[in-house]
Amino acid sequence: MKREDVLISPAEMGRQRDFTQRLRQRSEGLGRRPLAMVDTFGCQQNVADSQRIMGMLRDMGYGFTEDPGAADVIVINTCAIRENAEKRVYGLLGRLTHAKAASPEQVICLCGCMAQQQAVADRVRSSYRHVDLVFGPQALWKFPELLWEVYTRRRRVFSIEDEHGAIAEGMPVVRESRVKAWVSIMYGCNNFCSYCIVPYVRGRERSRDPQAILEEVRQLVEEGYKDITLLGQNVNSYGRDLEIGMDFADLLTAINEIPGDYYIRFMTSHPKDATDKLFDTMARCSHVAKQLHLPVQSGNDRVLQAMNRRYTREKYLGQVAYARSVMPELVLTSDIIIGFPGETEAEAMDTVSLIEQVRYDALFTFIYSPRPGTPAAALPDPAGRAEKQLWFDRLLEAQNRISAEIHQGYVGKTVRVLVDAESGDARWPLQSRTEGGRLVHLAGPKEAVGQFVQAKVLDSNTWALFGEIVPSEN
Ligand code: 5AD
Ligand code: SF4
Repeated sequence: MKREDVLISPAEMGRQRDFTQRLRQRSEGLGRRPLAMVDTFGCQQNVADSQRIMGMLRDMGYGFTEDPGAADVIVINTCAIRENAEKRVYGLLGRLTHAKAASPEQVICLCGCMAQQQAVADRVRSSYRHVDLVFGPQALWKFPELLWEVYTRRRRVFSIEDEHGAIAEGMPVVRESRVKAWVSIMYGCNNFCSYCIVPYVRGRERSRDPQAILEEVRQLVEEGYKDITLLGQNVNSYGRDLEIGMDFADLLTAINEIPGDYYIRFMTSHPKDATDKLFDTMARCSHVAKQLHLPVQSGNDRVLQAMNRRYTREKYLGQVAYARSVMPELVLTSDIIIGFPGETEAEAMDTVSLIEQVRYDALFTFIYSPRPGTPAAALPDPAGRAEKQLWFDRLLEAQNRISAEIHQGYVGKTVRVLVDAESGDARWPLQSRTEGGRLVHLAGPKEAVGQFVQAKVLDSNTWALFGEIVPSEN
């Protein structure tokens, strides 16, 4: 696709701001401040999308509530990655019937990855008639126009047509923290891993212009943000569609030039596109946190091939070894799927042996969930749920032991952490993260929120470290 066709034009974005203005006038005419509730399921990309939805709602004059009964507008930003996430959304939609019955003027919107699927839209159309607006991730930037249509035409609106997707710059945003921020650097996915619904609902890969990303990061650093995570389904293919000879490592190098006291993190990296150049760049750039989320999914070559992952166990292990050779302090995490269709017990145990070999700091583990329309969903799947659960439990047991051992190794050490929030816990009133992203429950004054401090680690468990702030040495 030509770049002009990917970028939403400034004129079109201006049109959306006009709708925002009209909605603002409508809000002001109500004689009270209308309220919106935004409920988010799924990954960080969805969290980032919800922050844009909130930005648009704020500009339309809405305040925010978490009480569905008090909301004039409810937006449910959904996830389609596993069946469980979808079930929870249908459950929520069912419960919202009551809120809507009590206040028929309430507007209920369903957006995100579930909404982009035709089958879901059909089901909502016929069985969830209290839902007024359905739009996919590709239509996010049109939300003002779509909401205006719901109010003025007084009919249900469905906008799920654009499957390739675009890039919209300059959308407003409400960030929920003053310390951490998410910056999407690309959208969509071209990889079509055989189990995954994402490429069908988030369109083709498209990269934001480096200037726009640099400007956003620069502004965040100036505003005092200290922990910035670059987001993309596969950040390692950043720039391919731009054809300006810039890859993800080059983007990191450019961002690293921005002066200030901050960390840059990123996710997710696909191993098939992770290069030595990327690891060398991470090692060299002082602002780039030495943290890598490198999803392996399986430790067995036959399963990896059936998943269409396009790397082998050996190649993956080679990458991990290289990354650790240039960044000895690297914190490494991964995603694992147990019970891919046709996986045998021996193959699942290859995954357990891989995690024993790699010794990840932490894992995100999933039991395979068939997604209608993906190639894997059509494969025979002889192993039963109970059997997969046993394999899964063995994986968890191994990883929990490894995480606990790695965390135990921090006890007695002093580490630099960024305090990101208060926790509400009396013994450990602060929450903080190491450079590698490990959670440290911290004793110290609340004034430390937003600061880098030295923390002495006193205790640990499988999931976190516990420590206290100590005076810094210099
Ligand atoms: N079933 C289970 N897990 C899945 N993931 C993606 N699709 C599925 C599925 N159908 C997992 C992968 C991916 C993470 C975000 O979710 O591990 O990396
Ligand atoms: Fe899904 Fe694979 Fe794309 Fe990740 S890289 S979003 S697992 S298709």
